[in-house]
Amino acid sequence: MADRKKVTLPILFNKVEEGVPITMLTCYDYPTAFFQEEAGIDMVLVGDSLGMTMLGFDSTLPVTMDDMIRHSQAVRRGSSNCWLIGDMPYMSYQPSVESAIRNAGRFMAEAQCDAIKLEGGAQMADRMAGIVAAGIPAMGHLGLTPQSMSALGGFRVQGRGALQAKKIVDDAKALEHAGAFAILLEMVPDRVCKLITERAETCFIISLGSGLDAHGQLLIYHDMFGLYPKFKPRMAKVYGEAGKVILEGLKQYAKEVQERQFPQPENWFSIQDEEYEELLQLLD
Ligand code: KIV
Repeated sequence: MADRKKVTLPILFNKVEEGVPITMLTCYDYPTAFFQEEAGIDMVLVGDSLGMTMLGFDSTLPVTMDDMIRHSQAVRRGSSNCWLIGDMPYMSYQPSVESAIRNAGRFMAEAQCDAIKLEGGAQMADRMAGIVAAGIPAMGHLGLTPQSMSALGGFRVQGRGALQAKKIVDDAKALEHAGAFAILLEMVPDRVCKLITERAETCFIISLGSGLDAHGQLLIYHDMFGLYPKFKPRMAKVYGEAGKVILEGLKQYAKEVQERQFPQPENWFSIQDEEYEELLQLLD
């Protein structure tokens, strides 16, 4: 989008004010960032889900700050106008407020991110407040928080029981009071998400599998295009079977090479006859 303006916090809050849903996707590399920029996506998250979608681990836990910085830099090069959020990886903020501020600062200084995201509720409010006090916009993440997968008992909906739902509502308030500009609700029942959205005063709410009533929506890019071979979460919508198209292309390539159908003259380079003759003489 050639005439696109840089997305800023006032622009995002204007959308919220006007009831225009915010678009958000994950992204981990330069070409995808380029396409997301062209499509005018508002917020782009370099998620630590890259540990699974890009690096092939079974969880997000092995992802390091250096992994995150490298991928965030690539995404920034592909999309200069999106609101770019760096996802704080496992143990980059849990140990202390100081570690949280230092690592959040790395996303801003080394990858030109606009904000960071971290997982957890009231127990992470001091990390959130420290980061915000350092002048870094911060997004919270509640519900299914993959870094706590072991404690949560797997990939499952969070907040189906009233007590657990109340805790998510309280956690959202704690993050809002700590200065979060936005909170992601992942796999939270739709009516709980609606309640939290209606109660949000100084932050906005993004839904991932949590219904229509949030201020915006997030999808994992690999789920949208059938690019993650291990599973497709129920909440994901597939907008194109890119994985199938790529696999077909790969099989076709292998077949054409084996059958000497590839390459064709337009796929190689030639030398002028006289130059070739001279080469042969030189070799003689
Ligand atoms: O890492 C990520 O992509 C995330 C999403 C699951 C929200 O945190």
